[in-house]
Amino acid sequence: MASFRDLCFTSVEFANLAKIDRTQIPVLESQGLLKTVKRKIGSAERKMVTLEDMQGYFREIRSGRHGDQPFGPKNPTHKIQMFYNVKGGTGKSTLTAQYVMKAAMLGLRVLAIDLDGQGHLTVNLDVLDAHERPTVYDVLINDLPLCDAIMNVAPGLDLVPANLGLCNIEIPLNNKARREYRLSEAIQKIADRYDLIVADTNPAASILNGSMLVAAQLVNVVCATNPLSFHGMSLVMATIEEMEREFKHDLDVRIVPNMYDNREVISQEVLGELRSQFPENCTQSVINRSADLNEATKRRTTVWGVNTKGVAAQDISAMTEELLFAPEKGINHG
Ligand SMILES: Nc1ncnc2c1ncn2[C@@H]1O[C@H](COP(=O)(O)OP(=O)(O)OP(=O)(O)O)[C@@H](O)[C@H]1O
Ligand SMILES: [Mg+2]
Repeated sequence: MASFRDLCFTSVEFANLAKIDRTQIPVLESQGLLKTVKRKIGSAERKMVTLEDMQGYFREIRSGRHGDQPFGPKNPTHKIQMFYNVKGGTGKSTLTAQYVMKAAMLGLRVLAIDLDGQGHLTVNLDVLDAHERPTVYDVLINDLPLCDAIMNVAPGLDLVPANLGLCNIEIPLNNKARREYRLSEAIQKIADRYDLIVADTNPAASILNGSMLVAAQLVNVVCATNPLSFHGMSLVMATIEEMEREFKHDLDVRIVPNMYDNREVISQEVLGELRSQFPENCTQSVINRSADLNEATKRRTTVWGVNTKGVAAQDISAMTEELLFAPEKGINHG
């Protein structure tokens, strides 16, 4: 069972992820663009690409020194992002974890921030000792510099973990001066170190989530394709619009449909409603309901550590590219 940091890809898997033909791999090696290692798998020795080698390849490609390539010299459209929904259980933590791991695979320097005392993003990133570590509570209440709460979880991927203590932040945070700006100011101090900063939020209209709405440039609202989740969307969008007005802060918004099942009429209906009511904001990519995502959660790794060819891996790839590189869009009702 490979943890994210120990991931290793076959030539075919790497070629698929890099959107190149596998026959190009020896060429890339001879150009010094790609490093590979030999690993014994069963009785055969195979050429493999480690996570760090893959990141090195994408960083080199994005440097712009090699002409037009897939994943060319683009930085994310929005550096500071959050996954959000006041409704619980829509898949925020699962998609945040998969997104930050996929973005790190692409060679981006990523910081994940867990803003939920349940600590599910923390666990999904295979950190099991968060009860002993500082969290955003220490940053916002005890003035700990954010850099002192950051830990490394894998090459190219850092985390500010969460633990149960974070559930007690609302009252002390409420009493702090400039409470909604504290998180934004803390993030700004370390933002230069990263290409992408992504927070997972708690399922409530909390001050902590409000602080992240002030800090973020893009809000990714995860909506499960069921009627109650759809029903809650008007409240979510109203909350975002209210924050924009109150803090004079323009946010781009994406709605990511999750747990889609094309065999269920109700799933199709909800997706249709989301697309017609929020035509500008609903992502093209849809995350299907998939056992691979549950398995990845159980194993605390990426879907690429479970099944590189599955629907979940394709869905997470498409979502990641869309959330990283899509043009700017504010809230737009259909
Ligand atoms: N596309 C999917 N297919 C199958 N299972 C999924 C999918 N998305 C999420 N899940 C599962 O749904 C459950 C809830 O997901 P998750 O914890 O990510 O939701 P959440 O919105 O973060 O919840 P909370 O509001 O409590 O923070 C998890 O067991 C997760 O593995
Ligand atoms: Mg969660």
